[in-house]
Amino acid sequence: MGLSRKEQVFMALLGASGVAGLTALILFLVEAASVLRPTDIKFGIVFDAGSSHTSLFLYQWPADKENGTGVVSQALACQVEGPGISSYASDPAQAGESLQGCLEEALVLIPEAQRRKTPTFLGATAGMRLLRQKNSSQARDIFAAVTQALGRSPVDFWGAELLAGQDEGAFGWITVNYGLGTLVKYSFTGEWIRPPEEMLVGALDLGGASTQITFVPGGPILDKSTQADFRLYGSDYSVYTHSYLCFGRDQMLSRLLTGLVQGQDCAFDGVYQPPVRGQFYAFSNFYYTFHFLNLTSGQPLSTANATIWEFCQRSWKLVEASYPGQDRWLRDYCASGLYILTLLRDGYGFSEETWPSIQFRKQASGVDIGWTLGYMLNLTGMIPAEEPAQWWAQSHSVWVATVVFLVLTLVAVLGAAAVQLFWVQD
Ligand SMILES: *[C@@H]1O[C@H](CO)[C@@H](O)[C@H](O)[C@H]1NC(C)=O
Ligand SMILES: *[C@@H]1O[C@H](CO)[C@@H](O)[C@H](O)[C@H]1NC(C)=O
Ligand SMILES: *[C@@H]1O[C@H](CO)[C@@H](O)[C@H](O)[C@H]1NC(C)=O
Repeated sequence: MGLSRKEQVFMALLGASGVAGLTALILFLVEAASVLRPTDIKFGIVFDAGSSHTSLFLYQWPADKENGTGVVSQALACQVEGPGISSYASDPAQAGESLQGCLEEALVLIPEAQRRKTPTFLGATAGMRLLRQKNSSQARDIFAAVTQALGRSPVDFWGAELLAGQDEGAFGWITVNYGLGTLVKYSFTGEWIRPPEEMLVGALDLGGASTQITFVPGGPILDKSTQADFRLYGSDYSVYTHSYLCFGRDQMLSRLLTGLVQGQDCAFDGVYQPPVRGQFYAFSNFYYTFHFLNLTSGQPLSTANATIWEFCQRSWKLVEASYPGQDRWLRDYCASGLYILTLLRDGYGFSEETWPSIQFRKQASGVDIGWTLGYMLNLTGMIPAEEPAQWWAQSHSVWVATVVFLVLTLVAVLGAAAVQLFWVQD
């Protein structure tokens, strides 16, 4: 049985729309493919020296796109063996040595000619903040040891420093929003545009020894010590950020175990915070705990609450049997789950209504969320304060061709629809 004339025309138009659509897609991907060219790739290394462990992140990006956005990708995340550098107070040289394994792993991925040009940073957070409060000469010795060890490495070492809690929060916020393209975005018309401010996402970080909250509040920030201002891509941002030292996961668990009364440096009450607003990404230990408990798919607060209490009431024998081979962290999930509920609800003030705005995530656009990417972008000047003069990221001709084929696709689809609707069958 042959096709009628109407069916033939319809099929032809549908075929044409398919071909034109595919061509537009291929043209679009030409740009993506050129990003993957192995030549002219640049690299950067950041060590995140936390309280419980140190991680190395290797980032890479195309050399000609330094002022673009969303083009930095993560080439390696490596966990340094052993504890955080603050645990090496009695043997600082070992702190430096401990970093070598991950550094060698990263160097394998960087072409030899590029290594000396690879900016490398070490940033230490709450573990070292606490050690410096306790014994500043020990903290100094550890920094000297890691500086010496990394200074000898075949990279462009920019230094090791203690990050202020505020910076940790602000750079986490920059990492999330850079990854999500909510600072600037490459638009359909081939220009970089600034998305509306409502798209910006807040950052909730739970480390071993501190926790950070950073977001753009609805009104003015009344306590200026909690305000961080910066200028990115020609726009001014004013975020609320606060870091609570001693309210990290491990610090909280050890306080629960020892029944210690909160010290003066660890107060939670009395810190100013405007009401939470907008979407939030909760990462690091927020994510790890909720991922284990299967609570990362947007469940309401009541479900999270019920799930955690149910898990906590299971007998230890049953828990061990349900998760074989996970003994190391298993006994902490109940306590850290309950702690996260308390922290988010009673500490940061999320309610049943605002709870669904929290997304528990490890990554944004393939990059682990934390302060490291934002820190590197800022220090290397890859997020210019002023709007770059040249915003074209895609070759103009490729873009024009893509649009032409998209229009052809649309015309063919509309034609096919018209045939179906208005062609009276003969
Ligand atoms: C990026 O922008 C800054 C300031 O706008 C400029 O100085 C720098 O040369 C630019 N880098 C590249 C690779 O275009
Ligand atoms: C700090 O540590 C050094 C070396 O470990 C020790 O000699 C010194 O007494 C300590 N200082 C304080 C104030 O505890
Ligand atoms: C980024 O670095 C500049 C110095 O290059 C500094 O003035 C600025 O405060 C940094 N931004 C943030 C968010 O800390």
